[in-house]
Amino acid sequence: MEEKEIKETKSLIQQWKGKEVNIIMILHEIQELHGYIPRNLALELSKELAIPLARIYEVVTFYNFFKLTPPARHNISVCMGTACYLNGATQILEEIKNLLHIKEGESTPDGQFYLDIVRCLGCCGLAPVMKIDDKIYGKVKKSEIMDTLSNYIKEEENAKA
Ligand code: FES
Repeated sequence: MEEKEIKETKSLIQQWKGKEVNIIMILHEIQELHGYIPRNLALELSKELAIPLARIYEVVTFYNFFKLTPPARHNISVCMGTACYLNGATQILEEIKNLLHIKEGESTPDGQFYLDIVRCLGCCGLAPVMKIDDKIYGKVKKSEIMDTLSNYIKEEENAKA
């Protein structure tokens, strides 16, 4: 598998070699293929383009679009837009952080949940709002969050059984 990934990356590098903005374009393609920038592929890019690895990481960390960890299986987005903020979004966010032991921008160590903050999900009338994957949860109550997250955990366990 790793050999295949390195081969793919080398071929990507060949396509963009010598062209302007090539590092960013290659990183975009790597992330599109893998969902993040794996360290071994960043290293390969560094070797192929003869650019220090630190420079590659400088680019990756400058743009918050790039991810350095594999994507989680479920993305939780908590809206902190004005309507949600005024209707208790901070408590919702804190509850999720406490239950999952992660901060915004982090994934749980098992890769099940990723937590993020968004500015408005376009359904302010339902504030406070959160989204898990493609599903919107409106009028979220702090007391219901544990059950909501448990459903995703149970769903995954059932799929494994
Ligand atoms: S402010 Fe939260 S959905 Fe608009």
